Amino acid sequence: MEKYVLGIETSCDDTAVALVARNSEVVASRIISQNEIHDSFGGIYPEFASRAHIANIIPTIKSVLLESGVGLAQIEAIGVTRGPGLVGSLLVGINTAAILGKVWNKRVYGINHLRGHLRSAELEGQTIAYPAVVLLVSGGHTLLAYMQNKDNIKLLGSTKDDSVGETFDKVGRMLGLPFPAGPLVDKLARVGEATLRFPKPLIDGSYDFSFSGLKSALFRFIEADNETTNKADVSASFIDAIMSVLVYKCNKAIKEYSPLSLVVVGGVAANSQLRNGAKKLCEKHKIELHLPKLKWATDNAAMIALTTWDYIDAEIETPLIPKMGLGLDEY
Ligand code: KG4
Ligand code: ZN
Repeated sequence: MEKYVLGIETSCDDTAVALVARNSEVVASRIISQNEIHDSFGGIYPEFASRAHIANIIPTIKSVLLESGVGLAQIEAIGVTRGPGLVGSLLVGINTAAILGKVWNKRVYGINHLRGHLRSAELEGQTIAYPAVVLLVSGGHTLLAYMQNKDNIKLLGSTKDDSVGETFDKVGRMLGLPFPAGPLVDKLARVGEATLRFPKPLIDGSYDFSFSGLKSALFRFIEADNETTNKADVSASFIDAIMSVLVYKCNKAIKEYSPLSLVVVGGVAANSQLRNGAKKLCEKHKIELHLPKLKWATDNAAMIALTTWDYIDAEIETPLIPKMGLGLDEY
């Protein structure tokens, strides 16, 4: 009898549930977006996020089980995100998982969301070639790491202020786009030209990032020029600046660590310019590129369920308590 992990992800603003087999096959996955709730605030309103999770979590679990036809006897365990994330949102997923675990008599594993993003590149049959340089770019995180293997992670650098996803969302908001603006800035940039010069903050000699200066430069430009601003050209120029920084840091890490592959994960890994830039970089260095399929780049529960199999195999037990600031090298 094929066994599955039931994954639950409520760390931020999406209620997600999935069933995943040990071989990374996804039998069912549902994501209930809260974009409409948060749009008028221009960002995530934490209290509304947790209330929406409370309303959505049980119907989402029910629909995943019904849609897949998977019975309780086929559920090996439950995996739920325990951090990093918003405390109220995390609590909804964790409490639901803990209660289901008791009622169904299943083990419940508290999973690191960032490790979930790493594993997103291996869903549905892909395998990462280690050692790897990893760029994780999402709404909550921006970091570069070197991974000797799945369990040996060295953090090389992270952002000192805004994350890449946050910068996309804030710049998009300045351009009058709805939340989350990242995908729309991506789309606009495809028909624009990178004719404008914005700062490319490299912080030489370090793997750290800083994007608040770039964001302020965009703000000053759009404010001074909002009558004539060509949104497509601004988007293309902004992305050109941000991609130069990401590619520069990845190139530096690849030269220093000589990995077999580059892995780019997190919501911004859905960005077409980043996917192209990473592809060219890997061709130049003759290494493999691992990207999640588009649907697994942004938050989902399939990546949490797949990561749960790692915890089961390594017998990793973690407290079922939210840990908002959980790091990439933790469980
Ligand atoms: O990983 P994710 O779903 O949530 C967090 O864990 O933070 O990432 C969401 C972020 C948002 O900031 C969103 O605007 C950004 O990913 N994003 C994109 C694209 N798709 C999603 N940014 C740029 N281009 C995209 N195509
Ligand atoms: Zn995420």
